[in-house]
Amino acid sequence: MTTTTTSSVPPLPALQIGEHTLKVPIIQGGMGVRVSAHGLAAAVANEGGGGIIATVALSLASKHYKKGKDYYKANIKALQDEFTLAREISPEGVIGTNCMVAIRDFETMVRTSVECEADMIVCGAGLPLRLPEFAASRPQTALLPIVSSLRAAKLLTKRWLKLYKRRPDAFVFEDPNTAGGHLGVSRDQLFNKKHSSDVVVPQLAEWSRKEYNDEIPIITAGGVWDRKDIDHAFDLGAKGVQMASRFLCTYECDAHENFKNAFIKATAADIVIVDSPAGLPGRALNTPFTRTLFRGGDVADKCFATCLDHCSCREDKLTFCIATALHNSQQGSLEDGLIFTGTNAVRHTRMMHVRDVFEEIKNGRPAPD
Ligand SMILES: Cc1cc2nc3c(=O)[nH]c(=O)nc-3n(C[C@H](O)[C@H](O)[C@H](O)COP(=O)(O)O)c2cc1C
Repeated sequence: MTTTTTSSVPPLPALQIGEHTLKVPIIQGGMGVRVSAHGLAAAVANEGGGGIIATVALSLASKHYKKGKDYYKANIKALQDEFTLAREISPEGVIGTNCMVAIRDFETMVRTSVECEADMIVCGAGLPLRLPEFAASRPQTALLPIVSSLRAAKLLTKRWLKLYKRRPDAFVFEDPNTAGGHLGVSRDQLFNKKHSSDVVVPQLAEWSRKEYNDEIPIITAGGVWDRKDIDHAFDLGAKGVQMASRFLCTYECDAHENFKNAFIKATAADIVIVDSPAGLPGRALNTPFTRTLFRGGDVADKCFATCLDHCSCREDKLTFCIATALHNSQQGSLEDGLIFTGTNAVRHTRMMHVRDVFEEIKNGRPAPD
């Protein structure tokens, strides 16, 4: 008699964030300008992860935004629409938003997220010092600041406790050496190991354990691709992971197929660092847009909505209009579009469904073609 043995991988533990339980300890990273809208967020939520609608410039590809008309009002309506659609697809899943602190309508996007009954709000691109005040009407909405150091986590927690008697429901640590989009350190600090998840996550985890009895879970982001990476994150002391690049080439991702195909064609040599008008470095794919930018050629540089608090395109006539450039790529136009990426995104070789990505991670082996 022959027996077949299948290698079994232990199940991943659930992740409790405030009142919400993620059956699978994966939060999908918010990807702005409609790369993660209702389609991706709902699909992730249906698999037991945390689905995140990124709020920044959500209106640009919506019926609510008319050129030259009120961009901020349109953003509110677009977020309400995306939330309704996501809830229709995933009535029971954990669905939240990503709100960028550096954006002028940060407070409005947080307040709208709360009105939409978001389960969680993840905040990056700055320290969300007043977040509990903006979200005060709904304590069930979990608040997850993104930090790039233990110092920032301590500072924020102290301030929230003093002013609002509330502590973060979790911290997301984003590794600037691998993450996509805006990076939390200056250019000269990039690729320094002291800012990596291998160094900072154990510091954050030890602090949470000693000071808060492990009640502020640490979630690590940047460079997480497969089960091996998740097991490593747990070894470092993380209780969950945030993954963005892994979901770019899914059918459910809300961007145009040209945008997704760019990752399938790209190699590691195609990853570049751009100076974002927000004053931070950003990790992006080498596209016709970045080539024109690097040679000092003409790129979209008209400010249309004053979307950033501080913007080197609007104020100093340097750089480019980031909302326009990201919107162009989301719409499939790579000639004039900027594509944000994590270092891992160039590993994509084909399109997948979100369900298969989760199956692959849960089983610890690649899904069959
Ligand atoms: C296309 C793209 C857009 C992003 N947009 C945002 C955003 O709007 N807000 C934010 O906080 N992070 C943003 N990020 C960062 C991700 O949410 C995530 O934390 C990071 O990319 C994690 O690393 P990974 O891509 O290796 O998984 C973006 C990343 C990518 C790839």
